[in-house]
Amino acid sequence: MKLTICYDTMRADVIGPEHGLTQEDVNSIQPKAEAAFAAVEKLRAGNDVTFFRLPYDTESVKCIKRAAKAIAERCDNFVVLGIGGSALGTTAVHSALRHPFWNLLSKQERRGLPRLFVLDNVDPDWLAAFGEAVNLKRTVFNVITKSGSTSETMAQFVYYRDALVKALGPKHARNLVITTDPTQGLLRKMLNAMPESERYESFEVPLGVGGRFSVLSAVGLLPLAAVGVNIDKLLAGARDMDAACKERDWKKNPALLCAALLYAAHTRKGKTLTVMMPYSQRLRDMADWFRQLWAESLGKKADLDKKTVHAGLTPIKALGVTDQHSQVQLYAEGPFDKVIVFVRVEQFDKRLPIPGKNLPVEGLEYLGGHTFNELIDVEQRATQAALTKAGRPSMTITLPKVTPETVGELLHLLEMQTAYAGALYNINAFDQPGVEEGKQFTYGLMGRTGFEPKAEEYRRITGRGGAGE
Ligand code: PA5
Repeated sequence: MKLTICYDTMRADVIGPEHGLTQEDVNSIQPKAEAAFAAVEKLRAGNDVTFFRLPYDTESVKCIKRAAKAIAERCDNFVVLGIGGSALGTTAVHSALRHPFWNLLSKQERRGLPRLFVLDNVDPDWLAAFGEAVNLKRTVFNVITKSGSTSETMAQFVYYRDALVKALGPKHARNLVITTDPTQGLLRKMLNAMPESERYESFEVPLGVGGRFSVLSAVGLLPLAAVGVNIDKLLAGARDMDAACKERDWKKNPALLCAALLYAAHTRKGKTLTVMMPYSQRLRDMADWFRQLWAESLGKKADLDKKTVHAGLTPIKALGVTDQHSQVQLYAEGPFDKVIVFVRVEQFDKRLPIPGKNLPVEGLEYLGGHTFNELIDVEQRATQAALTKAGRPSMTITLPKVTPETVGELLHLLEMQTAYAGALYNINAFDQPGVEEGKQFTYGLMGRTGFEPKAEEYRRITGRGGAGE
């Protein structure tokens, strides 16, 4: 395992007993942590939750790589149509592992690979503008929806399919790729009903893999392979982390350690907010992906014994150094309700010196001779020191470098951490009934057959009507 985790700044002897974890706090979570390990091992052995197996599914990866290569050859733009777990992981890994301005590079600079766009909203201005900005004939749309029915994604699908049919006629089929449940949902039904010769190319979201845990399935791997991410190495990193997470001793199991410390900080010290703050522009979207993972998985009304608990730790994404000038004032002096999880990178790809000679103004000499690499590192340490002094708990995850292996480790670390946290809170981390309710109201308001009672219920609650009323 290449990642390291430091949690000294969670401890009472470092930040003070009021907000830091004492030895007694740490000892007291041991039985809970052991039970969480056993609960997650039980999940691993069953078939209800299967994201654990994704890093080992080398057969699917071979197919995905072959298909990605062929798709990349026939397009200049690869577009993901999906939302939530069908979109955020791809964005996170793409930002981390491809050129920061990938879509601005020439085709030659991209080694012939397509640009990547992730359209995870239904803003009409945005969607129309996209259609106007690209050559549809050279654009492949990957429609990704596990349920095969999410209204946002389905609306995007029919919209761009229509545009493709107008531009390409029957040949439009080559510009659509579907990733969905193997047997369920409207898209699978559509695929099954299509004559084989006209059928859109399709991939499966494996059974037991929920949206936010699906980045290492075809959901994320196909788009990422299409733009040249080394998905073998990404999965190798996830496997390394998985091996580390088979450790029973919670203090040696990195994901269980993080989950247990955040759980202890909440239950013993009232820290209900988890801030993820990467000091790396490339990892900014990782915090966005984690935000969904942590929020949707842990925010639950009822626990596994059906008791009303309203569980959840609210995730906040922040970016170092940018948000030092936006958020850190609050973190240092506001309510004592947060744990800040710093994510830092030891070695950046580039070494960028700050000029020290011929300065246009006196007083900047102290910067000269240093590098931006030193500056970003010092700023992270300085911010953490200031927060420590102010009695604010934090943890640090360090990546030696941002590589496919370390990103794979980080993804799996955070997924496993979420699974353990679910077990610690005794909740189901793998469903999202709160999101489903909103989806169902949308179906009702948009007039979907079978959802009339939801439209009625909406009218009762709000006194207002459906779409266009
Ligand atoms: O994590 C999840 O399950 C959700 O965020 C889903 O990914 C999101 O709601 C989209 O669902 P679907 O993939 O079914 O379109």
